Amino acid sequence: MDRRMMVAGNWKMYTTSGEGAVLVQDVARELEAVRGDVEVVVCPPFTGLKAVSTVIEYDRVPIALGAQDVFWELEGAFTGEVSPRMLADLGCSYVIVGHSERREHFAETDETVNRKVKAAFASGITPIVCVGEPLAVRESGETERFVRDQVMAGVAGLSAEDAARLVIAYEPIWAIGTGRTPTPESANDVARSIRATIGAMYGPPAAMQMRVLYGGSVKPENARHFFGEPDIDGALVGGASLAAESFVEIVKAAAR
Ligand code: PGA
Repeated sequence: MDRRMMVAGNWKMYTTSGEGAVLVQDVARELEAVRGDVEVVVCPPFTGLKAVSTVIEYDRVPIALGAQDVFWELEGAFTGEVSPRMLADLGCSYVIVGHSERREHFAETDETVNRKVKAAFASGITPIVCVGEPLAVRESGETERFVRDQVMAGVAGLSAEDAARLVIAYEPIWAIGTGRTPTPESANDVARSIRATIGAMYGPPAAMQMRVLYGGSVKPENARHFFGEPDIDGALVGGASLAAESFVEIVKAAAR
């Protein structure tokens, strides 16, 4: 399988623009010791995108830039929103869509996720679509059905070409920021089921090309176990992405 591994850092609502510029410089320095291929992405808050993209451009750092959310219109009277066109202008090649924190606190639904996914692709930005079950669903044994429904609704209506470019992050909600994780095997079962869902929607070639990340308490100590699984193509990292050393340890574990 020649899918490129990806490690993406979700900085959440941490770092001022100055702190973000320092963090990406530190990450870049640590990356010099990484051997092997892996795509590295950092996702600062909106306010840090410009400063971080300036460092990436000026220092020619091999790091891709992502945002943490996007609105679906290109422009208009939408006070407080940020459009895909604005993100592309700042050098973003990725955007996280449908993170569980946005679903929980900001009324994100599968329908708004789908609008954002389509709008991102239309502006040449690849969405990193987050899906994942709450603890009660996990305990009732309904995880794969729950996640399949999120995937089917969230990424409906794409071309097969865009579907092949998709990145889907499987993040069990109960694993985010808690230090708890599913076993790598059970995370892989869900990743495989996500791939099968994409296969049913868009055909086997798209399913084989699209990448599935695992997210939720990924640390240097556990990353390589997830990366050893056949359907897991990398990680979306929250807490451990805020320190250059731990983030790049995870990148090293993914490098092939
Ligand atoms: P965590 O967050 O690594 O801190 O658990 C992951 C995420 O929310 O994307």
